[in-house]
Amino acid sequence: MMSNHFGPSTDPALFRSVLQSSKRLLALCGAGLSAASGLDTFRGAGGLWKHHSAVALATPQAFERDPGLVWQFYSCRRHKALNVEPNAGHFALAELARRMEGFYCLTQNVDGLHQRANHPASQLKLLHGHLFNIQCFNPSCDYVELNNLEDPFHHSLDSPPSAPATPSPKNTIAARAALINPPTPTIPRESLPHCPQCGIGLLRPGVVWFGEELDQKMLDEVEAWIEQGSIDLMLVIGTTAVVHPAAAYVGRARGKGARIAVINVEGADLGAAGGLGERDFLFEGGAEKILPEILGV
Ligand code: OAD
Repeated sequence: MMSNHFGPSTDPALFRSVLQSSKRLLALCGAGLSAASGLDTFRGAGGLWKHHSAVALATPQAFERDPGLVWQFYSCRRHKALNVEPNAGHFALAELARRMEGFYCLTQNVDGLHQRANHPASQLKLLHGHLFNIQCFNPSCDYVELNNLEDPFHHSLDSPPSAPATPSPKNTIAARAALINPPTPTIPRESLPHCPQCGIGLLRPGVVWFGEELDQKMLDEVEAWIEQGSIDLMLVIGTTAVVHPAAAYVGRARGKGARIAVINVEGADLGAAGGLGERDFLFEGGAEKILPEILGV
């Protein structure tokens, strides 16, 4: 394909030549990378779970209000993530990381599919945590269990996880009634898993929720990598790039000289990755198809 004269290039051959001469490459991945594996994204189609917005369930307030509901949502996500496979996009990124020492991958995904594609751990930063880590909700307790693959995680969550429901019309009587009379908690708090260390806090998934801080040590490591020198290229893969601080890394990479390459099924509404210029790239389509092609792995 020819390059658009004023906008970003769509030329895989040009991209590959830029990639070949690149020494330092950054990637920011989002839920769209795992879509072809069969996992839902957060916004747009698939962004609902049992009529609840996936984004609205990802908060400490939602957990305080109805921990059973939030646990059911995460139990469903854990179950699904364990029952799908990494796709060609995850494998291509992992292979590139093995071939290119200067490739550093930041992911917002918590599904474990990068790791299952054998992405080298030292070149992968899990910005939003990991679905399979378990921690304590009590702020004064530091209990963490890594990589717990139990499915369901706890006997209180052992009803078969449901698939996301088809959205119902907003204006039905039931939908209006639910707004006025929110449903009672789904699972009694005392039945939910409690922390074995402090005995007080409820256990929770080890993911970062809206309003929570990302792990400071990890952020410092990312910052140190960015500050090591100029960045040649940044891949922005399957993300709306609207959640900060993750999305801000696109601007940081630009500031370090990077060309931006967006890989997304939709070429509009690119959040922090918008405003692509002539030096940049835009590949519209599934990451599972485009990544192996443009990375040549
Ligand atoms: P979103 O659901 O916001 O965006 C998914 C993006 O993937 C959209 O831009 C889609 O167009 C694109 N997409 C869908 N299928 C694709 C495919 N096969 N190939 C390429 N692109 C595809 O998900 P994120 O941007 O990851 O945070 O969301 C960011 C954060 O918001 C998540 O980590 C989560 C969420 O709330 C927390 O929970 C803290």
